[in-house]
Amino acid sequence: MTSPISYADSGVDIDAGNKLVKSIGKVVAQSLQRKGSMSSIGGFGGLFDIKAAGYKDPILVAATDGVGTKLKIAIDTGFHETIGQDLVAMCVNDLLAMGAEPLFFLDYYATGKLENHIAEKVIAGIAKACVECNTALIGGETAELPGLYHEGDYDLAGFAVGALERGTELPLTLQKGDVLIGLPSTGVHSNGYSLARKIIAKSGLRWEDIAPFDPKRTMAEAFLAPTALYVQSLIPLIREGKIKAFAHITGGGITENLPRILPKGFDAEIDLTSWELPKLFQWLGQTGPMIASEMLKTFNCGVGGVIVVSENDVDEVLDQLKITGQNAFKIGQLISGDVEPSVKYLGIDDFETAIKPVSVLASEVGKVKKTAIGILISGRGSNMVALLDAMQSPDYPARCTIVISDNEDAKGLEIAAARGIKTAIIPNAHNMSKAEFETQLNQYLEDAGVEIICGAGFMRVLSKNFCEQWKGKLLNIHPSLLPAFKGLNTHERALESGVKFTGATVHLMNEDVDSGQILDQIIVEIDQHETPESLQVKTLSQEHILYPRALRKYIQNGLKG
Ligand code: GRF
Repeated sequence: MTSPISYADSGVDIDAGNKLVKSIGKVVAQSLQRKGSMSSIGGFGGLFDIKAAGYKDPILVAATDGVGTKLKIAIDTGFHETIGQDLVAMCVNDLLAMGAEPLFFLDYYATGKLENHIAEKVIAGIAKACVECNTALIGGETAELPGLYHEGDYDLAGFAVGALERGTELPLTLQKGDVLIGLPSTGVHSNGYSLARKIIAKSGLRWEDIAPFDPKRTMAEAFLAPTALYVQSLIPLIREGKIKAFAHITGGGITENLPRILPKGFDAEIDLTSWELPKLFQWLGQTGPMIASEMLKTFNCGVGGVIVVSENDVDEVLDQLKITGQNAFKIGQLISGDVEPSVKYLGIDDFETAIKPVSVLASEVGKVKKTAIGILISGRGSNMVALLDAMQSPDYPARCTIVISDNEDAKGLEIAAARGIKTAIIPNAHNMSKAEFETQLNQYLEDAGVEIICGAGFMRVLSKNFCEQWKGKLLNIHPSLLPAFKGLNTHERALESGVKFTGATVHLMNEDVDSGQILDQIIVEIDQHETPESLQVKTLSQEHILYPRALRKYIQNGLKG
């Protein structure tokens, strides 16, 4: 008789779904404290009481959106914490353009294989953004669709519903001479990423590289900056009647979105010299290269929203926006135009100059060949951090293309992801055979183009086969002066033996524990009152000097050191 088949056998894990609902419960519950929310987690539908939210004669407004291929960056870098805010912002900012206050939100998360540690981060990000906009997350769907999406991929969609009192819909009646105010964007927001990713690929920069236009951020940090939420800043002004219209600048840029709120016979005159094109957009334009008109109808170019106000209200509105943290600026005015509204730009020459290609790309300056490194960890990953820090230097001959762990709780994974480095976990690593584990490991290494592997606190012994395959390309660090004190409890054994010096060793890995060829060593002196703990701390800080040094020497000089 054939054995019975279960839903889990087909790749859909209901238990994982249930666990997820439980783990995100707290942060979702926080959003449900919003007035009007009647929902609790787990119902078939979400309830909302509009009267309790304070509306007398409400008109409902609904908007749906996704985050486009910005998702691909979150997936590639393993940084999933802020993509939820992007989703919420794309929907609720659209509601503002109608004059509506968001009341509740629903999300849809679809994936090939549900990985709770990822889904939790995404949905917690959604819930956090909902809390920030006083919006109840009253429902959501997590769909596991094996065969439709690749395993690591997921997609997101969201739906926001808001309300306004009848007769207060935006736009209000507009007049020639009304002033246009720009709200700063936080970056590319959630549109234009297919082109942005193409330009980034062309530049040869990697997500973990320092952005050439901002030395304080990696490329991943710059391009994953979450979309601005304008709700808290705009709702009070909308309710006071001070905002006559609002355009959310999304796909199509200012050029396409601003006319959407203008009546026939009006044009918008925008002075492009009234704000400085943020460096990130300058870099995109230069690197593309792109022409000004294409930039202005693709990216927000530093203006995430445009509000229309009466001339008399400009100062008051700018002051109030400042109090809520929005450093808004006057960018133009309404003028008479042809029947179909359009945007007339002033100062286009200055804009063209700002995006003119520079002869040598910043990323090309002083470029040294960088060997692709895969780092294997099982724990906190302080040696990994030491390597990553060294790799920040433009003349260091290596870059990290992936960090892989056999332990999903390894602290080092979060650190790597926060730095924009791709991370991977080989789940249930302890339940699978060595061969299965190593096949998966090889797949990740190959996909990331890894040339040299660095073990950094990686707690598995690799097979002879694997070590042969990676011969000369598999390094490890051990906290003793090998060949002394191989294996675990190194420091205890060093102290018991009475040696006066110990240290750390970087060596090639083979199938025997801590036995491959020694590449470099560093000495640590043992003090009179040394304990295993104090010795461990001292040694670890020397390891952080040794590992980057040893890797550099090995790449540059091979076994000659
Ligand atoms: C280090 O002491 C290393 O030598 C050993 O494991 C420890 C890992 O520490 N193999 P960390 O995870 O790099 O902080």
